[in-house]
Amino acid sequence: MKKELRVMPAVFPMPVLMVGTYDEDGTVDVMNAAWGQICGMDKITLCLTESHKTVKNLKKTGAFTVALADAAHLKEADFFGIASGNDDPEKFKKSGLTAVKSGKVNAPVITEFPVVMECELIELTPYGVVGKIVGVAADEAVLDETGKIDVEKAGIILFDQFKAGYYIIGEKVGQAWNAGKELMK
Ligand SMILES: Cc1cc2nc3c(=O)[nH]c(=O)nc-3n(C[C@H](O)[C@H](O)[C@H](O)COP(=O)(O)O)c2cc1C
Repeated sequence: MKKELRVMPAVFPMPVLMVGTYDEDGTVDVMNAAWGQICGMDKITLCLTESHKTVKNLKKTGAFTVALADAAHLKEADFFGIASGNDDPEKFKKSGLTAVKSGKVNAPVITEFPVVMECELIELTPYGVVGKIVGVAADEAVLDETGKIDVEKAGIILFDQFKAGYYIIGEKVGQAWNAGKELMK
C-alpha cells in the first residue's frame, strides 16, 4: 500500500550542474543547478530563479556554460549553490577554481570540472532558461577507449532532492535497450 505524500517534484537522480556566466565586466560567476535537463539533441533547459546573478548575467551575454560537477570538487560545487554573485563579486575567486573563456560562447569554462557544454541562450520562459548546446568538451582522462565520456572515471556526482544528499555513481546494473529484450516475446 502506498502512502500519499505532498505534491513535489519526485524525480531522482537530479544532476549537479555548474552554470557558468560572465558579468558585463568579465567577472566569472558559477551557480549550482539541480533542476536542469536536456530537451533536445542540442538543447538544455534550466529552471533558474530570475533574481540569481547567473540569470542577470546570461540575459546580458546571451550565453552560459553547463559543467558536470565531480566528487573531487564537491565542496566548491556546493559553495556555488550557497553563495551568490549578487552579494559577493569575489564568489568565484573564493572557490579557488580557475576558468578560461569558451572558444564558442561568451561564457567561462571552469577548468577543474571534467565535462562542459557551451550554450547560447535561446529564450527565457516563465519556467526557466532554454539554451542551444553549441560545444561539448571533456578532459581526455575521463574518456574511455572509444572516446565516450565515462561517468565513473569522471567521478560525476548526483543530487537527491528528497534529502539533499550528493551521491557518487553506483554500480552499473544493466545495459539500456538490452536488459528488457528477453520480455520481447
Ligand atoms: C544542490 C543545489 C541545487 C540547486 N539548484 C538550483 C536550481 O535548479 N535552480 C535555482 O534557481 N537555484 C538552485 N540552487 C540555488 C542557487 O545555486 C543559489 O541560489 C546560488 O546562490 C545562485 O548563485 P548566483 O546568484 O551567483 O547565480 C541550488 C542550490 C543547491 C545547493
